[in-house]
Amino acid sequence: MKSSKPIIKKTGDGSTSLYSPKYDQLYHNPHGAVTESRHVFFETNDLLKALKEKKSVNIFEVGFGTGLNLLLTLDYLRQNDLQTTINFYSVEAFPIDPEITEEFEFKNEPGLRKSLLILQSILQDLTPGMNRIQLTDHLSLHLWFGFFDELFEEPSNTSLITHKIDFIFQDAFSPEVNEELWTPDTFKKLASISNDDAVLSTYCAASSARAAMAVAGWKVARAPGAVGKREMTLASLDTDKLEAFKRVNENRLAERFERGDFDE
Ligand SMILES: C[S@@+](CC[C@H](N)C(=O)[O-])C[C@H]1O[C@@H](n2cnc3c(N)ncnc32)[C@H](O)[C@@H]1O
Repeated sequence: MKSSKPIIKKTGDGSTSLYSPKYDQLYHNPHGAVTESRHVFFETNDLLKALKEKKSVNIFEVGFGTGLNLLLTLDYLRQNDLQTTINFYSVEAFPIDPEITEEFEFKNEPGLRKSLLILQSILQDLTPGMNRIQLTDHLSLHLWFGFFDELFEEPSNTSLITHKIDFIFQDAFSPEVNEELWTPDTFKKLASISNDDAVLSTYCAASSARAAMAVAGWKVARAPGAVGKREMTLASLDTDKLEAFKRVNENRLAERFERGDFDE
């Protein structure tokens, strides 16, 4: 039988990613894992600005995967000597083996390599349910080992999310292969744990994904994509947050969704 274990792959900017045989997809952009993650989840959504200006920032990531976004958060805090309090929530149904992280490479990014031991120990000690780990004086990780839906199924699970979220990283595999994480129901759940001015960002520019956000009440905008991609998507419940970007027509997209235009 073919192994379903992820396999290490080098991407265009010299950083490594993983290929998932289970989803038949790379965890990141083949043209640059680190470059795209910085662009989508830290720069375009103005998270870097918030990290510098706000006392505390709460993040919710859909899909912990290789832990790259956590490593980047740690790196930004260190590089800029920031004292911002961060609660980093993430969910992961299929954690990777800690051993494979030994093969991770980040070209010209010594700061990211430095945190690999932290990542290994997180993965080694994971138990099903919510794992809370104080990583530094300022950064707390709340990692749900289980399915996204399970976290929202029982009020006793959802109540484990004790902070209102400011930034959502929608970093699931693409809607074609990871359908359950791109539904209106998913985006409604994400809205329910968010502040009114929260910003959701994703590498994905698919109309079906934008339509699902629109059905769930999110305002949606297009933004320039990273390395080799024309567009990415930003969303917020607060239109002011999307002022600098070209909005999609949410009503039209929601209508198309309800009509079944995106069904197979
Ligand atoms: C594109 S990859 C993760 C990218 C990750 N942020 C990174 O930087 O490596 C998507 C992740 O979502 C996880 N996943 C897929 N469906 C899930 C679900 N329903 N609940 C929780 N995790 C899921 C996969 O196992 C995978 O690790």
